[in-house]
Amino acid sequence: MIFENDTKDFIQVCSVTDLIANRGKKFTIGESEIAIFLIEGQIHAVTNICPHQHVSVMHDAFVEGQELICPAHGWQFNCRSGKKPDGGKGLDVHETEIRDGFVFVRLHEKKFRF
Ligand code: FES
Repeated sequence: MIFENDTKDFIQVCSVTDLIANRGKKFTIGESEIAIFLIEGQIHAVTNICPHQHVSVMHDAFVEGQELICPAHGWQFNCRSGKKPDGGKGLDVHETEIRDGFVFVRLHEKKFRF
Protein backbone atom coordinates (compact mmCIF):
# COMPACT_ATOMS: atom_id res chain seq x y z
CA MET A 1 0.00 0.00 0.00
CA ILE A 2 1.49 3.32 -1.07
CA PHE A 3 0.33 6.85 -0.39
CA GLU A 4 0.27 9.02 -3.45
CA ASN A 5 -0.27 12.74 -3.70
CA ASP A 6 -2.81 13.83 -6.23
CA THR A 7 -1.98 17.05 -8.01
CA LYS A 8 -5.11 18.96 -8.93
CA ASP A 9 -5.69 22.42 -10.25
CA PHE A 10 -6.15 25.42 -8.02
CA ILE A 11 -9.79 26.09 -7.16
CA GLN A 12 -11.20 29.52 -6.37
CA VAL A 13 -12.59 29.41 -2.85
CA CYS A 14 -13.34 32.94 -1.63
CA SER A 15 -12.33 36.55 -1.72
CA VAL A 16 -9.47 37.72 0.49
CA THR A 17 -11.93 40.21 1.98
CA ASP A 18 -14.07 37.28 3.23
CA LEU A 19 -11.29 36.46 5.71
CA ILE A 20 -10.66 38.08 9.08
CA ALA A 21 -7.13 38.13 10.45
CA ASN A 22 -6.43 35.32 12.91
CA ARG A 23 -9.85 33.74 12.51
CA GLY A 24 -10.53 30.63 10.53
CA LYS A 25 -13.26 30.07 8.00
CA LYS A 26 -14.60 26.71 6.86
CA PHE A 27 -15.07 25.75 3.21
CA THR A 28 -15.99 22.55 1.45
CA ILE A 29 -14.31 21.58 -1.79
CA GLY A 30 -15.81 18.42 -3.18
CA GLU A 31 -15.67 15.99 -0.27
CA SER A 32 -12.89 17.87 1.53
CA GLU A 33 -13.48 20.27 4.38
CA ILE A 34 -10.79 22.89 4.76
CA ALA A 35 -10.11 25.78 7.10
CA ILE A 36 -8.56 28.95 5.72
CA PHE A 37 -6.74 31.47 7.88
CA LEU A 38 -5.26 34.90 7.28
CA ILE A 39 -2.27 35.09 9.60
CA GLU A 40 0.31 37.86 9.49
CA GLY A 41 -0.85 38.78 5.99
CA GLN A 42 -0.43 35.23 4.63
CA ILE A 43 -3.19 32.83 3.61
CA HIS A 44 -3.03 29.30 5.01
CA ALA A 45 -5.32 26.39 4.21
CA VAL A 46 -5.41 23.23 6.29
CA THR A 47 -7.75 20.32 6.65
CA ASN A 48 -10.63 21.19 8.93
CA ILE A 49 -10.50 17.81 10.65
CA CYS A 50 -8.48 17.67 13.86
CA PRO A 51 -6.52 14.40 13.86
CA HIS A 52 -7.06 13.91 17.60
CA GLN A 53 -10.73 12.92 17.50
CA HIS A 54 -11.40 13.45 13.79
CA VAL A 55 -13.89 16.25 14.30
CA SER A 56 -14.52 19.30 12.09
CA VAL A 57 -13.31 22.04 14.36
CA MET A 58 -10.09 23.53 13.04
CA HIS A 59 -11.86 26.56 11.51
CA ASP A 60 -12.58 27.55 15.13
CA ALA A 61 -8.93 27.15 16.14
CA PHE A 62 -7.29 29.80 18.28
CA VAL A 63 -4.34 31.48 16.59
CA GLU A 64 -1.18 32.22 18.55
CA GLY A 65 1.65 33.37 16.32
CA GLN A 66 2.00 30.63 13.70
CA GLU A 67 0.19 28.04 15.82
CA LEU A 68 -3.37 26.84 15.34
CA ILE A 69 -4.79 25.56 18.61
CA CYS A 70 -7.68 23.15 18.38
CA PRO A 71 -10.63 24.51 20.37
CA ALA A 72 -11.63 21.04 21.57
CA HIS A 73 -8.60 19.86 23.55
CA GLY A 74 -5.79 22.22 22.69
CA TRP A 75 -3.65 20.24 20.29
CA GLN A 76 -1.38 22.62 18.39
CA PHE A 77 -0.37 22.67 14.76
CA ASN A 78 1.88 24.96 12.78
CA CYS A 79 -0.15 26.84 10.15
CA ARG A 80 2.62 26.49 7.54
CA SER A 81 3.63 22.88 7.98
CA GLY A 82 0.59 21.45 9.75
CA LYS A 83 2.98 19.70 12.14
CA LYS A 84 2.62 19.36 15.88
CA PRO A 85 5.17 21.10 18.14
CA ASP A 86 7.14 17.85 18.49
CA GLY A 87 7.40 17.69 14.68
CA GLY A 88 4.87 14.91 14.42
CA LYS A 89 2.35 14.67 11.62
CA GLY A 90 -0.68 16.84 12.21
CA LEU A 91 -2.87 18.58 9.67
CA ASP A 92 -2.67 18.33 5.90
CA VAL A 93 -1.69 21.69 4.44
CA HIS A 94 -3.09 22.84 1.14
CA GLU A 95 -1.25 25.10 -1.27
CA THR A 96 -2.77 28.56 -1.68
CA GLU A 97 -2.49 31.42 -4.13
CA ILE A 98 -4.05 34.84 -4.35
CA ARG A 99 -5.13 36.03 -7.78
CA ASP A 100 -6.93 39.33 -8.30
CA GLY A 101 -8.06 39.41 -4.68
CA PHE A 102 -9.40 35.86 -4.66
CA VAL A 103 -8.05 32.89 -2.72
CA PHE A 104 -7.28 29.77 -4.71
CA VAL A 105 -6.50 26.43 -3.09
CA ARG A 106 -4.96 23.28 -4.49
CA LEU A 107 -5.97 20.34 -2.37
CA HIS A 108 -3.34 18.04 -1.02
CA GLU A 109 -4.97 14.65 -1.10
CA LYS A 110 -3.68 11.26 -0.23
CA LYS A 111 -4.87 8.30 -2.18
CA PHE A 112 -4.36 4.66 -1.48
CA ARG A 113 -2.78 2.58 -4.18
CA PHE A 114 -2.82 -1.18 -3.77
S1 FES B 1 -10.28 17.18 18.81
FE1 FES B 1 -8.65 18.58 18.45
S2 FES B 1 -7.40 18.38 20.21
FE2 FES B 1 -9.03 16.97 20.56
